[in-house]
Amino acid sequence: MSTVTVLRHAAQLVGLSAPRDTCRRGAALRNPGIVEDGALILRGDGIEWLGRTTDLPPVPADAEILDIPGKVVLAGLVDSHTHLIFAGSREDEFEQRLQGVSYQEISARGGGIASTVRQVRRASREELKALARPRLERLLRFGVTTLEVKSGYGLTLADEIKCLEAIADLNEEGPCELVPTFLGAHAVPPEYHADRAGYLRLLCEDMLPEVARSRLAEFCDVFCETGVFSLEESQRILTQARSLGLRLKVHADELTPLGGAELAARLGATSADHLLCVSEAGIDALAASGTVATLLPGTAFFLGLDYAPARRLIERGAVIALASDCNPGTCPTENLPLVGAMACTQMGLLPGEAFTALTLNAAAALGRSERIGSLAPGKQADLVICSVPDYRHLFYHFGVSHVWRVFKRGRVVYAA
Ligand code: NIG
Ligand code: FE
Repeated sequence: MSTVTVLRHAAQLVGLSAPRDTCRRGAALRNPGIVEDGALILRGDGIEWLGRTTDLPPVPADAEILDIPGKVVLAGLVDSHTHLIFAGSREDEFEQRLQGVSYQEISARGGGIASTVRQVRRASREELKALARPRLERLLRFGVTTLEVKSGYGLTLADEIKCLEAIADLNEEGPCELVPTFLGAHAVPPEYHADRAGYLRLLCEDMLPEVARSRLAEFCDVFCETGVFSLEESQRILTQARSLGLRLKVHADELTPLGGAELAARLGATSADHLLCVSEAGIDALAASGTVATLLPGTAFFLGLDYAPARRLIERGAVIALASDCNPGTCPTENLPLVGAMACTQMGLLPGEAFTALTLNAAAALGRSERIGSLAPGKQADLVICSVPDYRHLFYHFGVSHVWRVFKRGRVVYAA
């Protein structure tokens, strides 16, 4: 017998979707899908029924019943872009940047990604997991029930596998679901600076085949950026990944307008991420494609850069998602609702648009919106109850957690 939980008299249920509604664009993005005075029946790991409390059908006598007036039930938040597996911290670089040194200058001096790589190479799989657990706990406290996690601070076959294994272990431990991405193309490591071609060969001929064979990653990502991986190099790596059965993501047009958005759309990538410097042609390419434009305003905030052109992407019809980019260099935060608040105040999103971008469209950026990212009968029961009367408080009363309970697969996994 599976357990039944009934939630009644929620001020709002937020994040309803219709069957086959697996991502939203344009004006449809605004509507987060709301029922007032709502109720839900959870059975086992799924949602069995939802609607107005007055329409609630009879429930089993032994069902657990929770009345939650004055609280909202939200679809669990999905963080579709994180670099959660790392060791060490970079507050020294933070202070250098505040004195005018740019992120690229710091990287050129051997800091940036390379400094985290040095620390990750020294750490064991167990140490990396121990460092990641409190970050996962904080994400959960902010309402995140599924997240993508990238490798990319190992940059040798063994160190990248170590990071992907740590991700697999943490996914197994639960309660959050972790979606693994191979980011061996995060940087050319120092030992290959005189032999780029050698690192490209290592990536394409050794690392990618092993990552695909071991099934430790679902996605392959590339940092397509001036001075990191060129368009041609990115295309070569992504094409090889695709031929090995991996799905694609691209760090695109983050610091310079290189054309990563166009490349992502052309290769059928699941998402193109960052896009601070995306060109008009890049916006059109994304709008005409199924590639999700994932925006990471926390990174623009932390680096003091101009934000991505979210309104233009929406108006032209791109599918947009929001994610944290949680990493030790360019966005050390787990506060995903704060990222939503930044999207509202700095990029002009409406609360409904930000909410859809953190749930349904973020699930689409992970190829999972048939199962998670919204509230509907038959969907997985991943939900967050917040102690606020209206979901807009998530972004309006910013910087704090309003989360009261988190359900993952129908079970309470966090209680404030
Ligand atoms: O998404 N852009 C590349 N990767 C990260 C930064 C990684 C780091 O600086 O450690 C990002 O911003
Ligand atoms: Fe990133």
